[in-house]
Amino acid sequence: MVDELPDGLVLRHPHAGDQRRVLAVMDVWWAGFGGDAGSLQRSLLLPRLFFQHFTDSSYLVERDDGRLVAFLIGFLSPSQPEVAYIHFVGVDPSLRRSGLGACLYRRFFQLAAARGRSRVRCITSPGNAASWAFHTGLGFQVEPGDIMIDGVAVQRDYDGPGLPRVAFTRMLTDQTSPMLAPAVTVRDVRVCFLGDSFTAGVGDPTHLGWVGRLTARTEHRGLRLTAYNLGIRGNTSAQIRARWRQECLPRLPEACEARLVLSFGVNDMTQDGHGLRVPPDRSVANLRSLLAEALPVLPVLMVGPPPSGDAGRDERVRALDEQYASLCAAKDVPYVSVFTALAEQPSWQQGIADGDGAHPAAVGYEQLTNLVFDPWWRWLEDPRSGTELPRDRAASGAGPRRVPGALPR
Ligand SMILES: CC(C)(COP(=O)(O)OP(=O)(O)OC[C@H]1O[C@@H](n2cnc3c(N)ncnc32)[C@H](O)[C@@H]1OP(=O)(O)O)[C@@H](O)C(=O)NCCC(=O)NCCS
Repeated sequence: MVDELPDGLVLRHPHAGDQRRVLAVMDVWWAGFGGDAGSLQRSLLLPRLFFQHFTDSSYLVERDDGRLVAFLIGFLSPSQPEVAYIHFVGVDPSLRRSGLGACLYRRFFQLAAARGRSRVRCITSPGNAASWAFHTGLGFQVEPGDIMIDGVAVQRDYDGPGLPRVAFTRMLTDQTSPMLAPAVTVRDVRVCFLGDSFTAGVGDPTHLGWVGRLTARTEHRGLRLTAYNLGIRGNTSAQIRARWRQECLPRLPEACEARLVLSFGVNDMTQDGHGLRVPPDRSVANLRSLLAEALPVLPVLMVGPPPSGDAGRDERVRALDEQYASLCAAKDVPYVSVFTALAEQPSWQQGIADGDGAHPAAVGYEQLTNLVFDPWWRWLEDPRSGTELPRDRAASGAGPRRVPGALPR
């Protein structure tokens, strides 16, 4: 849906700090509709709580420079399980009739349909001709009223004495409008997470690991997501490369949007008595081959190897992480480097020390998830999106606490 936004515009969910920005534009965007009384009513209808508690179902659109150009505040009715409600929508006058309002509505319809809602409702003030034209243009029906104003049915005291409203309803199951038909198409995205013990979440007493946390956080974002955790303890890049086709392809039928997330490297850099299990050049070659096989078939995201409590291995992993990152950059594969940020987290190191000497506990997996989530979501929205290294998220302070030890398989 983001693709439908004109170039140079970015869509996101609002946060509490956006309330003032929205209030600041309303008089201009509504062109003083309803005079001082209208202005006061509008400002009172958007208290901060909408930007605190309804953010997941609300949207802002900004220019690249951060200037606000549109917003939609909506929610899923807690008491009417079939209804989703749009409370407010506004578009910068300079961008009207470019499809921006419709794009926000489609986005909201998609979210509402994905969460099982079959009807969208909203209201507007009598005399707001643009709003009436917009809503009826998008397939809304005007609900019966008790008075006609300018040929439109109005409910006289809908919001209290002297506060008339026009009420609209639109069924989400109505596919007859070609403009809205795509709105209820929910993407069927299936993702294989192919990796080692960190992918499997070893050491996490909640058994969620970063993959479980990541996919749980992705719920309710308008996708139908199926995630397969294909982490195997002790696996090296060579083993992962050897098994990817057989394990992933049967899980990714043609009809779905197939994706692959890779994460490995720590086992390669582990000594096995004869030397490294997989030397760095072989490890990089394995990744190169895997990408050469996978990229023609499906988009790939790579999460780099984390520190694992052994000083020597960590140094090798740090260097491997950089080589992996360069290779992925050359192949246009988004790469999330987590090594430095995690090495700087005392609680990551503490989890390893308190655990089996190599794997973090729940807190560590939460930190890892925090690092991965934004790049992951950008990649889900657009597989060609690049990622910046999330090192700025690292907590500064104590350096890494290195706890020597073999990687338990
Ligand atoms: C109502 C509003 C949100 C519409 O946003 P928008 O981005 O201009 O709307 P779109 O470009 O997506 O229009 C979609 C369709 O709605 C209809 N439409 C929208 N505005 C219209 C207008 N002023 N006159 C006639 N039809 C209109 C058209 O069918 C249009 O499709 P088209 O341009 O292909 O003909 C915008 O005018 C606005 O912000 N108004 C002030 C705030 C407001 O009144 N909000 C609604 C009450 S909360």
